[in-house]
Amino acid sequence: MATGRFITLEGGEGAGKSTLARGLAQRAEALGLRVKVTREPGGSPKAEAIREAILSGQVKEHGPFAEALMFSAARIDHIDRVIRPALQRGEWVICDRFIDSTRVYQGTLGRIEPGLLAELEAVTIDGLMPDLTLILDLDPEVGLARAARRRAPGEGTDRFESETLAFHRKLRKAYLAVAEGEPQRCVVLDAGQPPALLAQAAWNAIRDRLPAPQLA
Ligand code: TMP
Repeated sequence: MATGRFITLEGGEGAGKSTLARGLAQRAEALGLRVKVTREPGGSPKAEAIREAILSGQVKEHGPFAEALMFSAARIDHIDRVIRPALQRGEWVICDRFIDSTRVYQGTLGRIEPGLLAELEAVTIDGLMPDLTLILDLDPEVGLARAARRRAPGEGTDRFESETLAFHRKLRKAYLAVAEGEPQRCVVLDAGQPPALLAQAAWNAIRDRLPAPQLA
């Protein structure tokens, strides 16, 4: 029986998900909760190896469905080795990207047939839905500029950062459509606000949606 809580952070490039994940974890740990911060693709050694392969662009030529399969293979290992065990220990898991990234990047943008993607998702997660998903909404021009600033000198763009602005604009809309379709699970946050305000808005959403004695 899983007793912890599973929170996922989603959004386009440069939206501030990893900074927010760290900030939320610090806050929750200060209240005595045990927190595991992780990310996708990745989070386990096998999944990190798959991350390298996908983000280097090696799988791109095989098309969006092949990429969806690779993200799913990484997710299965990550769930089995990291997420479920942590939840079973009663920890709160904060995961930077999860199923909605596949729905939006490979599904909507890659035009994979929705029924097929839903079946792939079902066998991949085997019932493990996030308790709460925070969608960081940001103008993609601002996000891509932030992503460019954080790159090391000489480092190029990755597989998805190198897509067109039109791609990233569609991505933003697709995330908002996910949130509209599942309002009980998803909360949209304005990622254009200063990081401290974003962190407070995220914290308020967690307290509202996932009541816990430690957060009262
Ligand atoms: P990031 O962790 O630095 O955001 O990079 C992950 C990239 O992979 C990002 O561009 C989104 C993309 N992605 C997908 O396309 N599908 C997925 O299922 C996941 C988890 C990520």
